[in-house]
Amino acid sequence: MKHKNLFLALLLLPLTTMATEVKSPNGNIVLNFTVDDGRPTYTLSYKGKDVVRPSHLGLELAKDKHASMGLNERDLMDGFTLVKEETSTFDETWQPVWGETRDIRNHYVEYVAVLQQQWRSAPPKVTSNMQLQPRLHRREILIRFRVYDDGIGFRYEFPQQPDLNYFLIKDERTEFAMAGDHTAWWLPGDYDTQEQETQETKLSEIRSRMQEAVNWGNSSVAVFSMTGVQTSLQMKSQAMDIDGERRSLYINIHEAACADYATMHLELVDAETTELTTKLMGGSNAYTPAPSTIPGGSPAGSYPLPQPFTFVSHLTPDATGLKGAMQTPCETPWRTIMVSDDARDMLSSNLILNLNEPCKLEDTSWIHPTKYCGVWWEMIVGKSSWNYTDEFPSIKLDNIDWTKVKPNGRHAANNEKVKRYIDFAAKNGLDQVLVEGWNVGWEDWANMWKRDVFDFQTPYPDFDIKMLNDYARSKGVKILMHHETSSSIQNYERHMEKAFQLMNKYGYDAVKTGYVGDIIPRGDHHYSQSMNNHYLYVVKEAAKHHIMVNAHEATRPTGLCRTYPNMVGNESARGTEYEAFGGSRPDHTCILPFTRLQGGPMDYTPGIFVTRLKEWSDNTSWARITIAGSLALYLTMYSPLQMAADLPENYEKFDDAFQFIRDVACDWDESIYLEAEPADYITVARKAKGTDNWFIGGKCDENGHKTNIKLDFLDKGKKYDCTIYADAKDAHYETNPQAYTITKRVVKQGDVLKLTEAPGGGFAVSLMAK
Ligand code: NOJ
Ligand code: CA
Repeated sequence: MKHKNLFLALLLLPLTTMATEVKSPNGNIVLNFTVDDGRPTYTLSYKGKDVVRPSHLGLELAKDKHASMGLNERDLMDGFTLVKEETSTFDETWQPVWGETRDIRNHYVEYVAVLQQQWRSAPPKVTSNMQLQPRLHRREILIRFRVYDDGIGFRYEFPQQPDLNYFLIKDERTEFAMAGDHTAWWLPGDYDTQEQETQETKLSEIRSRMQEAVNWGNSSVAVFSMTGVQTSLQMKSQAMDIDGERRSLYINIHEAACADYATMHLELVDAETTELTTKLMGGSNAYTPAPSTIPGGSPAGSYPLPQPFTFVSHLTPDATGLKGAMQTPCETPWRTIMVSDDARDMLSSNLILNLNEPCKLEDTSWIHPTKYCGVWWEMIVGKSSWNYTDEFPSIKLDNIDWTKVKPNGRHAANNEKVKRYIDFAAKNGLDQVLVEGWNVGWEDWANMWKRDVFDFQTPYPDFDIKMLNDYARSKGVKILMHHETSSSIQNYERHMEKAFQLMNKYGYDAVKTGYVGDIIPRGDHHYSQSMNNHYLYVVKEAAKHHIMVNAHEATRPTGLCRTYPNMVGNESARGTEYEAFGGSRPDHTCILPFTRLQGGPMDYTPGIFVTRLKEWSDNTSWARITIAGSLALYLTMYSPLQMAADLPENYEKFDDAFQFIRDVACDWDESIYLEAEPADYITVARKAKGTDNWFIGGKCDENGHKTNIKLDFLDKGKKYDCTIYADAKDAHYETNPQAYTITKRVVKQGDVLKLTEAPGGGFAVSLMAK
């Protein structure tokens, strides 16, 4: 009898007091969700180990003019009751238009919590003759979780309803309470750039490293906090007992499908959070103080400060300082947490792509992987120029007769040079030639707050657009278009349709865009909701013209390339160009696949063979990589768009090594990560799409790396012509970068390749089925 009563009592308890447990398909990942004192709260574990400790979910709303109607006077933070729960499973396999594998399995358990908030508004101040009465408000939001074997995604959903139609976001307050003082690979949180070197510290050391981390040069910098970091954030826990061994957990926080919403940063609550610093030096020209964004330290700090080692989401503001203008029905991007006790799973995970919507383009036949070279590196290095003339202190596009101006003799995008690159591409099987500086306006293009900076249509007089495109076509090559916007967004949107029509007219099918400098109109930021809308608008408009897009300095990708596969690349991190601006650390490319590449491919522009730039220019910078290491990047830095960035004449000096760039594919049926450790080494084997050929690449940091590769993934009974491009015994990224060996042999399944990577080096292997 007693038991029966207890059972009845349990049934009558409101849903809010019970935690719901949701397990991933293989049971390794367990999500718990509850409403704790009116606040949605979750935890996450992996193989029984804490990954996320109790963490709150919610959003603070800005009080706007609608507040007088009582609608937004209440944040979406607390006062919630759980009114409904739904659990379901999903399992499908889909094929990306391009990618690391031919098939991608999307298998998860979904849990949806429907949450209700009710309150009675205070009598409003009467501003008209309409007398409003206090009334009962009721709002419903959903939190949707998807629990995979390699992590989770969750998002907030806002159905359309009388009490929630339009709202402004002051900030999202999603918490991620870490279970320990993990090692983290992080970039300083910044509303405008992600081109910094990655920092490697414990969570507790982020604050003390911040000053050093932001002490660098970039034309647009907006740091917001002493503990703010960017996503994708890769972490590693201390070793613990897992499956009878001492292993670490690898944890990655990022986001998926960031559309019509601001890019998320993470702000760490640490021991000193209550004495937060709001001023911080920020590079050359701009530090934007965050408008009361500090967890627990803001005027709205009625919400208690989370425990130390908790990250709190921090969205990028727009020019008004607010973080989002929403209209229901709508949802936030997915917040993603990947976790495994094997670092390789961080690289092979498809969680972020899976959380994005299926392809929305009906015809994708025009989208293709692309290998390209370009009239580019020599300008980056400073040997030649984008601009045609040095005659004027400034220019106005309409006032200049370009046929009459005095050329500076350094303009790179000229007919003769472009033809030379087209010949080189044709001879070496490269698909396209990027030409930057072809269009008028480069004389005063950056950092002048100049709105009408380019028209994207008028070539300089020494660039014959028709002749060069005809010439390229006659050789089976295309020219890759370049649209540097200088972050003058209205100007680009005004000219874009005509610019795309021009591309269609001459047969260009890919554009590299760029967003150097602070955003114009002034005050907005590169990663705000409005800018994220702009980047996607460009991709969608380009698709109508069958144009592929590779955007530099745009927001970091979040897997939207699944939905819009004409988004073939992004820079959105520190690319090879920095090798000409003082250099990047040798471990840089062993970190990027764990961080920046989680959301989509990077146009890293690899392939530097002559690493001492002063061998052919006045630039004293040098690339911290060996030639074999440069080859490895074509495998370890996955992208369907790959550049051979060095000059033709530099490649001609090392033509036997260049053979690998000629051969390597950039679209794959299968990818197997053989070894991986963040900031140390990555080894991957990939099978080229539609063929039996395999390629293997290994890249390591400044310490070198030894590896034995067992070729058990090859087809049984088949033989392969194997060419190994390796660092020579005495190779070293600093003292002897051009020392490599090329060995050829015939191999079969089960054979072992023993390889040694030099400090800052790597290797590349091609296996052509006989
Ligand atoms: C920065 C880009 O990353 C680089 O590739 C480009 O050449 C310059 N902007 C000029 O657009
Ligand atoms: Ca850049």
